[in-house]
Amino acid sequence: MTTWSPDSWRALPAKHIPQDYPDAAKLAEVEATLASYPPLVFAGEVRKLKKRLSDVAEGKAFLLQGGDCAESFKEFNPNNIRDTFRVILQMAVTLTFAAKRPVVKVGRIAGQFAKPRSSPVEKKGDIELPSYRGDIINGMEFTSESRMPDPERLLKAYGQSAATLNLLRAFAQGGYADLHNIHKWNMDFVGNSAQGERFEKMAERITDALDFMEACGINSSTTPSLGETEFYTSHEALLLGVEQAMTREDSTQPHQFVDTSAHMLWIGDRTRQPDHAHVEFLRGVINPIGMKCGPSLEPDELIRLIDILNPKNESGRMVLIARFGSDKVADGLPALVRKVQQEGRKVVWSCDPMHGNTLTANGYKTRPVDRILSEVTQFMDIVGAEGAYPGGVHFEMTGQDVTECLGGAQEISEQDLSDRYHTHCDPRLNGQQALELAFLIAEKLSGAGGLAMAAQ
Ligand code: PEP
Ligand code: CO
Repeated sequence: MTTWSPDSWRALPAKHIPQDYPDAAKLAEVEATLASYPPLVFAGEVRKLKKRLSDVAEGKAFLLQGGDCAESFKEFNPNNIRDTFRVILQMAVTLTFAAKRPVVKVGRIAGQFAKPRSSPVEKKGDIELPSYRGDIINGMEFTSESRMPDPERLLKAYGQSAATLNLLRAFAQGGYADLHNIHKWNMDFVGNSAQGERFEKMAERITDALDFMEACGINSSTTPSLGETEFYTSHEALLLGVEQAMTREDSTQPHQFVDTSAHMLWIGDRTRQPDHAHVEFLRGVINPIGMKCGPSLEPDELIRLIDILNPKNESGRMVLIARFGSDKVADGLPALVRKVQQEGRKVVWSCDPMHGNTLTANGYKTRPVDRILSEVTQFMDIVGAEGAYPGGVHFEMTGQDVTECLGGAQEISEQDLSDRYHTHCDPRLNGQQALELAFLIAEKLSGAGGLAMAAQ
């Protein structure tokens, strides 16, 4: 293998990186500006996340990764960030309480802007334009002007990511996430639902436990971990020009490069060719790396990719995110897990039950909640049956009361989809649906079978 450098990916073929910027010099100038800006995350945080993920790989913790399919400039406001944060907190506390193990919280947030698209063009009537590729690249409006890639958008995305991360850090460490505030996390529209009531009942039990601990002298002052939480960020490392610009050599450990755009980066299902640019770039940074594993991935190729991305078999480095679809997971996943077990590779197995379960109904891209749940359940059984640990889930979700995924306790129907369909890309679980899934997964995690075995 050739020597790695932050720009060695540039010599290789790359899919889904736009080539049609009208002014290449302007793009290079903006990337140079980004390279001069402060890092968004720090090497120490990245290493800490790796340690937490290593606990997940060993069956001692659970990974919860979630957030928007694509963040947008339009929906950038503090309430949105707060609502996503608190529904993740609610899900995490639900999972922690039931499964009695720590939950590592990673948002698809503060940088999740760029999208690979199945078609480079979109057609409406007789007009054909370049597809929308995420606000960091072009605009959603169906005009040729808006669909033109614009480098200025990179700077706007950086600014939005920095402000989002700033608020997330305040929420995580400034008191909001204190377990004593658990009753305040229920959002109105969730609070009035069956899931909300269930959450309230659990919150009462947690509050009772906290009161008891307080009487024993254990509170947020004596035990800071009760008063704050760790929250990490992630996004798909698609726009390698930006990832390169945000990559810094660690001042405390020379020759170690950190992609400071997020704590964790992942490689999409469409960009994981072993000899292409995305794999090349990510092999050289020390961040935890996720990789989407879909139906086209063969066991031998998976091992080849792990060899490239994690040659030292470091625990906490690789998160394999299975995304097959509820109808394909039973065919494709067992062979991958078996191979990884046989080869003794240390990985986290996580399940993205969103991207293989998309369909069109009533003119909207949507996903049925029962298929999402079915994929997660099958995933847990399959991974457990192979003697490995089903260690995490990866959701597209929002704290908002949207109507984008079908079903769930709210019984969102095809006709309801048009009511509040706001996503900039794929359909997301709303706050109630996300919490409902957390309860169901928690039940599975706390039950007998694969998980109990894996936690030994
Ligand atoms: C995504 O996570 O938004 C995505 C595009 O997923 P995948 O690469 O698995 O299709
Ligand atoms: Co998506």
